[in-house]
Amino acid sequence: MSIDVVGLEKKFGDVTVVCGIDVHVPNGKMLVLLGPSGCGKTTTMRCIAGLDTPSRGRIEIAGNVVYDAADGTNVPVERRHVGMVFQSYAIWPHLTVFQNVAFPLEIQRVGKTETAERVHDMLTLVGLGDYSSRGASQLSGGQMQRVALARSLINKPAVLLLDEPLSNLDARLRDYLRVQLREIQMQLAITAVYVTHDQHEALALADEIVVLRAGTILQRGEPIDLYGHPCSSAVAEFLGYSNIFTATVTARDGALADVTFETGKESVRGALVAPPGDAVVAACVRPNDVRIAALADAAAALPPNTFAAEITLASFEGSHIHYQARCTSGIVWDVICADVSGALRVGSTASIHVAPESVLLLPQDQA
Ligand SMILES: Nc1ncnc2c1ncn2[C@@H]1O[C@H](COP(=O)(O)OP(=O)(O)OP(=O)(O)O)[C@@H](O)[C@H]1O
Ligand SMILES: [Mg+2]
Repeated sequence: MSIDVVGLEKKFGDVTVVCGIDVHVPNGKMLVLLGPSGCGKTTTMRCIAGLDTPSRGRIEIAGNVVYDAADGTNVPVERRHVGMVFQSYAIWPHLTVFQNVAFPLEIQRVGKTETAERVHDMLTLVGLGDYSSRGASQLSGGQMQRVALARSLINKPAVLLLDEPLSNLDARLRDYLRVQLREIQMQLAITAVYVTHDQHEALALADEIVVLRAGTILQRGEPIDLYGHPCSSAVAEFLGYSNIFTATVTARDGALADVTFETGKESVRGALVAPPGDAVVAACVRPNDVRIAALADAAAALPPNTFAAEITLASFEGSHIHYQARCTSGIVWDVICADVSGALRVGSTASIHVAPESVLLLPQDQA
């Protein structure tokens, strides 16, 4: 079962919120749509599910055309045979947890004993084994989300659409269910589209990530490729490059270039990704690629790609320390330091170093 979306466009009134996107999800693979709030993720999913009618384009599920603007094909939602978990749960408040999860099996006329067994297993998996007889209206948001997830998986759908299915869970449960979900999806070879604005979730779950902004695809690729090679500053931002500075190219040297930040004070050497014609680029660095160390003499001459900065934030976060450090020019570096032993104090002076290969000089996105 594959999913093919070709030239999908969706307008609400005069506003185009999905601008002709193409997506192919091969059989048994998980595609993640990643993008900020309002970029058209849910709208795209609703079009695939048949809950919204596109304005243009074609959608195929398992090789069957379910929507085609050209000839008016529009298969109703119940005949598209997709499992869904939507942002708004859509569980039935007047039914119990058990009845909600058992519903898809009832439709398929699965026997009572098998239903009881499968519902029990699924509720245990999502951590709601003790909630079977609870009325669904008496659940917390996170519990409702898990009921919706259990219901979507209970009949082992070949195609699954998941719209931020873990957004209301606490961090521990989210990590646990993310792994479970990926395991189930791979084990049953479910073809899935998963929507999130969380880069960690996207990187961990996806076979392929599609980065969306304003209804348009900015970049697509396998998680590792995308993480290492964002094509523009907007994509870099979604993928956790929290240091992004506008800079002017002053010299080129093969694959490297020297740039000066907007402040006019800092110059840095980085890997040139932007096309040769771009005089202004975005210098993008991941916080965990920034080296930070105590600096005794703030006036001392510093090696290339190294700056003096005052520590303005030092937040211990368990496995690492999160620092922010401000240069006298005003730019602020965001730093993740895995060494938690020698914590630097707020107000002290530090040296900031970035290796040229970890500074990506990317094309700047127009806002
Ligand atoms: N029924 C509607 N009528 C008019 N505009 C709509 C409708 N549904 C969505 N929109 C608009 O379309 C755009 C895309 O919305 P969508 O729900 O797809 O975003 P999203 O990427 O899922 O965002 P979020 O991460 O906040 O859930 C938004 O600007 C939204 O306001
Ligand atoms: Mg949404």
